[in-house]
Amino acid sequence: MTNKKEHIIDDDRLQGVLIDSDAIHARIETLAQEIKDAYAGETCVCLMGVLKGASIFVSDLIRELRTVGMRGLHLDFVRASTYQSGMKGTGEKTRKVKISGMTCDNVEGCSILLVDDILDQGFTLSALKDYFLTELKAKSVKTCVFLEKKLESPSPEVLELRKHFKVDFKGFEVNDRWVVGYGLDVGEEFRDLPYVALAREECFR
Ligand code: IMP
Ligand code: MG
Repeated sequence: MTNKKEHIIDDDRLQGVLIDSDAIHARIETLAQEIKDAYAGETCVCLMGVLKGASIFVSDLIRELRTVGMRGLHLDFVRASTYQSGMKGTGEKTRKVKISGMTCDNVEGCSILLVDDILDQGFTLSALKDYFLTELKAKSVKTCVFLEKKLESPSPEVLELRKHFKVDFKGFEVNDRWVVGYGLDVGEEFRDLPYVALAREECFR
């Protein structure tokens, strides 16, 4: 942990800084290069940010993609809600993902890069990928997350889902704890932190 002013934890409901802003921005630089390489030859790619959690990550990522020389980028957003204002419980088997609106009318035939804040049990991104491919007839759908959780004791159903659903790009792996900051929230709080912090889960249950 650094002692930069921006990294001082001033809320008792947070436990500590997990990933500081320097580390975040350094990783986004290398991630942008990985994405550019993977899309070599593609003339137009639509970054589809998943609201609201991915809004900050996708804003930094798209500018870094331009810096590394990627062109023909579009930016749109889709809104999805899986946990509403709560956190996940133990042994969950499935959850309904509410997809409620998109900022463009048509993505038929487009190359879509779905960008979300975090892959946890996998319900949200797997449902969105299926929706964009099957219902909206996108040409291709790749997935990118800022964080991927290493699950501790998932239900057999979630284990199976995570075994088969893999993201194409990820920033960092984190342990199975509720994390906030850099767009991620608990009950709509802490999206504005410039770093990722651990939430004291007992304060939010
Ligand atoms: P999944 O569907 O279980 O993979 O959960 C992914 C979605 O839940 C993300 O789009 C996040 O909005 C939210 N989420 C899951 N884990 C966390 C967390 O630790 N902090 C904040 N949001 C989370
Ligand atoms: Mg989300």
